[in-house]
Amino acid sequence: SSLQMYVDELPQIPKLSGYTMNNGVPRPANLTIGMYKTTWKFHRDLPATTVFAYGTSAATATVPGPTIEAIQNVPTYVTWQNFLPQSHFLPWDPTIPTAIPKNGGVPTVVHLHGGINPPQSDGHTLAWFTANFTETGPKWTQQTYTYPNMQHAGNLWYHDHALGLTRVNLLAGLIAPYIIRNVSLDARLNLPLGPVFDRVLMIFDRSFNTDGSLYMNSTGVNPTIHPQWQPEYFGDAVIVNGKAWPYLSVQRRKYRFRIINTSNARFYRLSLTNNLTFTQIGSDGSYLPNPVTTPTILLGPSEGADAVVDFSMTAANETILTNDAPYPYPDGNSVDQLNGKVMKFIIQPGAPSQTDNSHVPPKLKTYPVASNAIGMANTTRYITLYEYLTPAGTSTHLYINGLRFEDPVTETPRVGTTEIWEVINLTADNHPFHMHLAAFQALVDLAGFTSCMTQLNDAISCNITGHATGPLVDVPLTERTWKNVVKMAPGYKTTLVVQFFVVDDVYSQYPFDATAEPGYVYHCHILDHEDNAMIRPMKLVR
Ligand code: C2O
Ligand code: CU
Repeated sequence: SSLQMYVDELPQIPKLSGYTMNNGVPRPANLTIGMYKTTWKFHRDLPATTVFAYGTSAATATVPGPTIEAIQNVPTYVTWQNFLPQSHFLPWDPTIPTAIPKNGGVPTVVHLHGGINPPQSDGHTLAWFTANFTETGPKWTQQTYTYPNMQHAGNLWYHDHALGLTRVNLLAGLIAPYIIRNVSLDARLNLPLGPVFDRVLMIFDRSFNTDGSLYMNSTGVNPTIHPQWQPEYFGDAVIVNGKAWPYLSVQRRKYRFRIINTSNARFYRLSLTNNLTFTQIGSDGSYLPNPVTTPTILLGPSEGADAVVDFSMTAANETILTNDAPYPYPDGNSVDQLNGKVMKFIIQPGAPSQTDNSHVPPKLKTYPVASNAIGMANTTRYITLYEYLTPAGTSTHLYINGLRFEDPVTETPRVGTTEIWEVINLTADNHPFHMHLAAFQALVDLAGFTSCMTQLNDAISCNITGHATGPLVDVPLTERTWKNVVKMAPGYKTTLVVQFFVVDDVYSQYPFDATAEPGYVYHCHILDHEDNAMIRPMKLVR
């Protein structure tokens, strides 16, 4: 692509209030958000691109869709509506497990990623629906979703989750931020606040044809097995908040950036030029206990980082946000000119318009700690990640524990308990492991499973103890908090402590029946893996 970088300004993503104010008190709100086929300008010099987009009307739908801003403990109700046409504009693959309506239409279902939500409102892959709810999937239950917002304050996002179409529907544009705020915590922390100094950066990669249309491969890597499916989608343009390589003019002061990687498969290792660093304050939807100053932030697909950048710490008048993560991560190509750049900050000369009174406090927020939680765990599960290859070494599909998505549920945690999940990665890729409902964190990574990698067998015959011989690797300080996605390094066993109740001082029980149908899922968040079919059902029990 020959698009010029840094010619479009970073868009402000439109906001929707997830609450209403009544005599100064926030009350629940009812929102209606549709999915529309429309066009979006990704770059000044690129013709408008056909997209599927979230919005309150076709005319206001955007990529990313509107940020829902909710208040902790104040529920938000959203009626999700599908206005999409009879057929998809992107290629898809009916030979992988896929929602295929009998009468056409594009199946969709919305998942609030990182949300602690009732099963009926969680956006199960089989709870899909087509335009006007003409056709619904086997696990569909209701039109209006309830988001209790009772978890702790932080950054989430919403996106499509239809079976076998997740990679295609997100590529088409069905992604958007969701922020839960705690006003008194915001006041106590005194971090940069307000629409100018507190910004979402939603980063994703796309390729375009010269007519502006999105490019997605229409032939698979093994077309005789799967006509269209490819193991990873990588685009050559890096998009932030809907513009390719945008710029943002900033004052010489602190800004808070809520960074979310919403790429299908690309990892980013972010840095800033001209000696600026990040002060990371959160990971996914949780704060870190203490801020961590770091020159780089590594984000897998769907992973988030909350970071403060102080632009007064350089004398330069600009800084480039760069990426040096190879793709596929970690063993693929090195970055090139295009995907090695993300966006530019133009730093205005002189002092900021008003004194910057924000600061990054030395203590942020503490939650019950994982090392205490581990003592409460009475169940240990072994979760093994496999990739199946042709004799020539190309991918045909991926599974968890050698099981298909449609095989009977095997993970049935009890409500309110803590478990240890030992995730063993027998593939050559890093997989961003995501669980619905639960909050979890990695305690330690253990190397030594590489020699198991060709043995497509279960974890036990892989002889865990025999292979657990490599070095123990500490989890980075920037990831030691309650997360909703954790990177699984190839050839490693990662020990996760998983809590099946909300980790906060707000409440310790669900305000809903987490055991209800249709249950939940867990999966790899490389969307091309998830669709074929590194995803399993999860059902909570009492
Ligand atoms: Cu962000 Cu099950 O997904
Ligand atoms: Cu994966």
